[in-house]
Order: sequence, then C-alpha cells, then structure tokens
Amino acid sequence: MTDLLLLPGDGIGPEVTAQVRRVAEALTPDLKLDERPFGGISYDQLGTPLADETLAAAKASRAVLMGAVGGPQWAGVPRDKRPEAGLLNLRAGMNVFANLRPALCFQPLADASTLKREVVEGLDLMIVRELVGGVYFGSPRFIEDLPGGGKRAVDTQVYTTPEIERVSRVAFELARGRRNKVASAEKSNVMDTGLLWREVVTDLHRREYADVELTHILADNAAMQIVKDPKQFDVLLTDNLFGDILSDAAAQLTGSLGMLPSAALGVAGTPGLYEPIHGSAPDIAGKGVANPLAAILSFEMALRWSLDRAADADRLFAAVGKALDGGARTRDLGGTLSTVEMGDAVLKAL
Ligand code: IPM
Ligand code: MG
Repeated sequence: MTDLLLLPGDGIGPEVTAQVRRVAEALTPDLKLDERPFGGISYDQLGTPLADETLAAAKASRAVLMGAVGGPQWAGVPRDKRPEAGLLNLRAGMNVFANLRPALCFQPLADASTLKREVVEGLDLMIVRELVGGVYFGSPRFIEDLPGGGKRAVDTQVYTTPEIERVSRVAFELARGRRNKVASAEKSNVMDTGLLWREVVTDLHRREYADVELTHILADNAAMQIVKDPKQFDVLLTDNLFGDILSDAAAQLTGSLGMLPSAALGVAGTPGLYEPIHGSAPDIAGKGVANPLAAILSFEMALRWSLDRAADADRLFAAVGKALDGGARTRDLGGTLSTVEMGDAVLKAL
C-alpha cells in the first residue's frame, strides 16, 4: 500500500513537491511513496485533469499530497476539464469534507507580514473550511443565453444538516485540543444556508460541545476582524466559499502564502488530502525560487493526521522553525534562497 501519493501538478507544484520528497526520504525512509500526473499536466497527457486510476490510487493510499494545479495555458479548456475541476473532483471523490487551514505566524517572520508586528506576532489561528459542498458543488449551475441577448448564469449554494454537522464536529474537537474557542462564520442575515448553518452549529454545540466557547459571526465581519485583530480567533469554522476567501486573507497575516499548509480530512480511516494553500504561481514557475515550506509543512500535517507519525511531525516542524531562525528566506520572505536551498536548510536543521 502506498503511504504517500504525490500529485505534483502544475506550475511550481513539481518544484515544491520535489523538496517534500527529499525531506520524506531523509526523515521517513520507510514510507512508500508514489507519484502521478494531476491537473493541467494530466489533461495534456491523458485528456483529463483527474484520471480514474489517479483517483483510485488516491483512495487506496494512506495520504495524498498535492503540489498545485492550473495555469494560463489551460484557460481556454472547457470548465469540466480544467485543472481546478480535477482538484474539486479529487476532493469530492476522496470525500475530504473538513479542510484545516492553519494560519500560524512563525516568530522570525513577524515582520514579513504587511500587518503590524503586534497584530500578527504569536498568531495561531485554525480555519476549518467545509470542502465538498456549498456553492462549489451545488446544482443547478449553468450559463444560458437570454432571448433578448445577454446571458444568465446560475450557481447554487446548498447545505444539509449532516454536511454542516460533520464539519462542525471537527471544529469543536480541534478546539478542545487548542484554546477551546470556535467562531462560526456565515451570512445568516441574508442567506437561508447561513440560517441553517447557524441553527445546526448551535444545536450540535448545545447537545455535545457545551464546554467549548462558541460565537457566531457574519462572514463579512469575520473578514474585517481577521485583519483587525486576528488573535481573537482560535478555530474559525465556515463554509466552502467563505473559507476560500477568509483563508487567503488569513494567509497574508503570516507573512507569505508560501508558508501555509492545509489538510483535508474525511471520515476516520480514510486518506487525507494535503495541499499547500498557494496556487501554481505561473509567474515564478520553473525559476526555482518558490518557497517549498508550505508543501513541506503539508507533509508535516500528513505525518500527524494520516500517517500516525506525530513524533516525526514534531521533528519536522521544529526543523522548519530552526531553518527560519537561522535566517533561511526564499524571495517571498524577503530573502534570496532558491527552492532547493530552502530544502537544504530544512534538511540541515533535521
Ligand atoms: C484553494 C483554491 C481552490 C479553491 C481552487 C484552485 C479551485 O483557491 O484551495 O483555496 O477555490 O478551493
Ligand atoms: Mg483559495
């Protein structure tokens, strides 16, 4: 059985996952790795961004680590064959409904954020984003021509009680191991899905998690609070679309999108999907300057959440901190190290 399936994907994906491979080979040489094409490169080679065999291999692995997908060269491809569609189908196919997106400010990077040091220093926020429902997957969705000219486009935001409940449970459980606080963000003031979201979270909290401090916050206000006073949050629970937006905002607090890993988890015993939050970054792809730390930290999360190797995860996390303490900086962090040199720095710290 494959322990870790690597899906390097497009853009800077192959460059950063190559560093994950080096780290895995040094830290956990007994893990069985495999690698498959995914995203735009898979579309070019196989005519689809996610081949059936790739999805089957993902489901048969213990953990999957993706680099990044997409790029301008696939902009004209029909939407269901685009690299991003491959990613959505992978998430849905693996049924990884709970997306953990930590925003952690490493001490030596407190000045790398565009926000003031005192706002971000010591930040440790965990966004829990619902990942396989909502407007990303709701039907109907279409663009139609209107008789008088012009068009009409429809997306559908849809959530059910069990979908909200299972991701909320993950947020409450996580909070118990942290600072015991959950803020749930929705738009219950204008959306029915928001109303249901608030109701289900409130109910579950009363039934099973009354010991956790729960607050409800409107998603727009959450965006403001994230840049105003992010340290007020511990776990921030939200839906697929709001989670997409709020996690990009939170990422900037930490200095660079190049620092942030994520884990997408399904039901217990099924493989998790690990992705750096940054995209394929076509502007710097192939130049060897991308920051591999988000990918390396995604591997750290895989060790912790899917591979049952918490001690190795701790070692790797400490090694990343040590490399940063020692001044290792890629360009996004204001330094000059290449992707490979940052990999070297982590290996040396290990
Ligand atoms: C993310 C990305 C994806 C998303 C895209 C690439 C489909 O922005 O993981 O946040 O919207 O979920
Ligand atoms: Mg996003």
